[in-house]
Amino acid sequence: MQRVALIGYGVMGGTHANAYKEMPGAELVCVIDIDEAKRKKAEETLGVRTYATFAEAVAAEDFGILDCCLPTFLHPDAVIEALDAGKHTLCEKPMALNVEECKRMIAARDRSGKHLQVCHVLRWWPEYVKLKEVVRSGKAGRLRNVTCTRIGGTPLWSWDHWLEDVERSGGALIDLHVHDIDWVCAMLGRPKAVFASASEIDRATGPAHVYATYLYDGIAAFAEGAWDQASGFEMACRVTCEDAVVSYSSAQNPTLQLQTASGSEPIPFDKVALDGAAAEEGNISDLGGYYAECKYFVDCIESGTTPSVVTAEEAMQNIEIAQAEFESLRTGKSVELP
Ligand SMILES: NC(=O)c1ccc[n+]([C@@H]2O[C@H](COP(=O)([O-])OP(=O)(O)OC[C@H]3O[C@@H](n4cnc5c(N)ncnc54)[C@H](O)[C@@H]3O)[C@@H](O)[C@H]2O)c1
Repeated sequence: MQRVALIGYGVMGGTHANAYKEMPGAELVCVIDIDEAKRKKAEETLGVRTYATFAEAVAAEDFGILDCCLPTFLHPDAVIEALDAGKHTLCEKPMALNVEECKRMIAARDRSGKHLQVCHVLRWWPEYVKLKEVVRSGKAGRLRNVTCTRIGGTPLWSWDHWLEDVERSGGALIDLHVHDIDWVCAMLGRPKAVFASASEIDRATGPAHVYATYLYDGIAAFAEGAWDQASGFEMACRVTCEDAVVSYSSAQNPTLQLQTASGSEPIPFDKVALDGAAAEEGNISDLGGYYAECKYFVDCIESGTTPSVVTAEEAMQNIEIAQAEFESLRTGKSVELP
């Protein structure tokens, strides 16, 4: 049984806490949050003990895993403190706001001998996983290009409005669009160069709508990430292959399709198998990918396996590419990735 402490009981902390509720092999022992109201909510909703700081929790509780769902600018210090205290650490994406901070986190992982996994959830999202499997099977023919979309409204709900502050969140480019940077790399590996454009860059919040092109040998990929939509949210990935298009969109029905010259057909995929009360209530698709990423980490620790679905080095590469996109926005030129 893996004993888990969770720090940061906001939107994502609530999602991870719900995942542990149903998870065999894991027990959420406490929640750490600076905000007294959040601690009270955790005590009432989850029935766990709560603490205001990691230091208090570590002094009072026995746990082996820290799950970090703090605002992004707080990830590096919190993750390093946990690893230095000998805790395996799961950290929400984006890993950090720059490569230097990611390097500090990786150095802490290496000196601790503990595991560090960054939650790039698309690697566990059932439709994305299936889409990649279909493309890799060769059924659709040779891959030609990849197009990703992730568009929604500005997040106005965050603690202390940290998400609306590009200095603390990285804005839409790092906070939201990093999912698709990660997915493009999961599909195609490290790009040779990146070019980014944005129509308007607010000094406080950063680019609200970014278009990025990734160059490979003979293949191009494109990703659009936006926080400027009046309403709704859509995420999508279209992979054009020589014989067919494999497409996922949260806005299309069925969500996952194979389109050939003779028409479209749905691609069946396995939803995440949930246990306990969640399974009895049916599949909670919104929780599925998050449940799977947390369960994967818990299972790795339980079995003494090094997590490998997305490594900290890959998560750092995502931040390197995001920084290259910021540079491209500044200079108006494409940026080589050596
Ligand atoms: N994978 C995804 O789809 C996804 C979705 C949303 C957010 N995220 C990521 O999850 C992380 C958290 O985002 P969120 O939307 O949950 O933020 P949030 O603002 O909703 O929650 C942050 C929580 O951290 C607490 N907090 C702030 N400073 C603290 C401190 N020093 N010590 C302890 N607690 C502190 C706040 O009280 C709050 O409860 C971010 O890195 C974000 O990018 C990922």
